[in-house]
Amino acid sequence: MPATTTPAPSLRLAEITPANVDAALGVKVREDQNAFVAPVERSLAEAYASRATAWPRLVMDGDEAVGFVVANFAPDEEEPDFRCGIWRLNIAGDAQGRGYGRFAVGAVAAEARVRGNRRLTVMWVPGGGGPEGFYLGAGFRPTGRVMGGQVVGEMVLDR
Ligand SMILES: CC(C)(COP(=O)(O)OP(=O)(O)OC[C@H]1O[C@@H](n2cnc3c(N)ncnc32)[C@H](O)[C@@H]1OP(=O)(O)O)[C@@H](O)C(=O)NCCC(=O)NCCS
Repeated sequence: MPATTTPAPSLRLAEITPANVDAALGVKVREDQNAFVAPVERSLAEAYASRATAWPRLVMDGDEAVGFVVANFAPDEEEPDFRCGIWRLNIAGDAQGRGYGRFAVGAVAAEARVRGNRRLTVMWVPGGGGPEGFYLGAGFRPTGRVMGGQVVGEMVLDR
């Protein structure tokens, strides 16, 4: 299903605040998936260090924190692949397979469009058990570039 599907009304992205930072830190992927994504605490620290451009959000289903995503919106970045992209996406192990990841990609794509972007990138570690199939299904296509062993994928954003 494409990332533009209308989400369930209970789904939203929430800004990270003192009230929900513990919930964010509680989002853990499955043990065997730790090779594919950094833990939330590291991503939050990196987002703080890059707070002029980083866009960290909690994925909420009603009152439940089910995931965490960091996008980066850096229009002045020299490298085009780094101007508008998803840095991290972590869906809690026990919440996977319910459409939350697809929702998060769609919500970041919507934010990117609002900011005037026509292209969204993501980098993923190739290999079995990783997110490649998820990102391809969400509408990303490999650019042919590989950075630091990660495949650079891109999605063209419709207006
Ligand atoms: C990859 C990840 C974000 C997917 O989130 P999710 O909420 O489980 O995915 P969804 O339920 O939204 O799945 C959407 C579709 O992608 C498919 N899909 C999900 N994970 C997949 C995977 N690893 N490989 C292939 N397809 C996958 C689903 O079957 C579903 O397909 P459908 O549309 O035909 O029903 C999640 O598994 C995760 O956090 N993994 C560990 C961390 C990681 O790899 N993050 C990405 C770092 S770049």
